[in-house]
Amino acid sequence: MRKFISVKDVTDINALVAKALAYKADPLADRNLGADKRIGLLFLNPSLRTRLSTQIAAKNLGMEAVVFNVDKEGWALEFEEGAIMSGNTVEHVKDAAPILGQYFDILCIRTFPSLKNREDDYSEMYINQFIKYAGVPVVSLESATLHPLQSLTDIITITESLKKEPAGGTRKPKVVLTWAPHVKPLPQCVANSFAQWVNAWGEADFVITHPQDYDLAEEFTKGATITHDQDEALKDADFVYVKNWSTYNDYGKIYENDPGWMLTEEKLKTTRNAKVMHCLPVRRNVELSDEVLDSTHSLVTRQAGNRVWAAQAVLSEILTTTGK
Ligand code: CP
Repeated sequence: MRKFISVKDVTDINALVAKALAYKADPLADRNLGADKRIGLLFLNPSLRTRLSTQIAAKNLGMEAVVFNVDKEGWALEFEEGAIMSGNTVEHVKDAAPILGQYFDILCIRTFPSLKNREDDYSEMYINQFIKYAGVPVVSLESATLHPLQSLTDIITITESLKKEPAGGTRKPKVVLTWAPHVKPLPQCVANSFAQWVNAWGEADFVITHPQDYDLAEEFTKGATITHDQDEALKDADFVYVKNWSTYNDYGKIYENDPGWMLTEEKLKTTRNAKVMHCLPVRRNVELSDEVLDSTHSLVTRQAGNRVWAAQAVLSEILTTTGK
């Protein structure tokens, strides 16, 4: 693996999941794989889980991790090719990225979408500019449209839970991605990415439910059953993934924000005692009720814990492939 930006960079999802679970069982199995290597973690936005889990994963592989909060500590970066830099940006990515490529053996980057211009966001200009100019493997810590380390974690968590409680016979587990209300417009990246990975994985009966006007991009959802009837979607579900996203078509807006879409214990009654997932951070009693989050339905803490093993499996693959 030479980069990790989307599921398309993975040749065998189940093998990567198995690798992550092997690291979970034995975190220091490859403690020298990244010896004398350095990884840069660049954040253009805040993070708790992604930052810390990737640092721990790198340490488990013997790498030194350096975190750089570009948005707070660095020069304002310019990403447009040919930009006349007479405004607020101070340094062009084509100057900064090659330098970072000299400092680090692997470069990890978190960006966010503007939610103002869909074409710009979906072109993934920020992360693609780093890939173009850094000259070292690039790992997405969340980009404008995708969050692959989160999605790998999600498949790991579902796989691990299925080992304990199989869906039953040859029946595929029913996995439901449900939209939830929120107080501000959020990116589509976690939902896009989850849909992309579950579809590529192919081992679930996958249903997406959201209010009208919250359609996601078909390039990610194709293969899933899509319904605006949340109750119908939840029937017989084994896993319910809760996430808000803003509108894709009339880009970056909040339309309907019906609190009735919040996931509650009552709604889980028609499921197969479903496990509930969320990438976190979560707005309690807006997206998900306290009673669900604090119940045995909730996988969110285990899910966030698994971020370490997802990151470790990906970094290990890159180190092995590139010899870096
Ligand atoms: N799920 C996730 O990416 O969490 P952070 O934003 O805290 O990294």
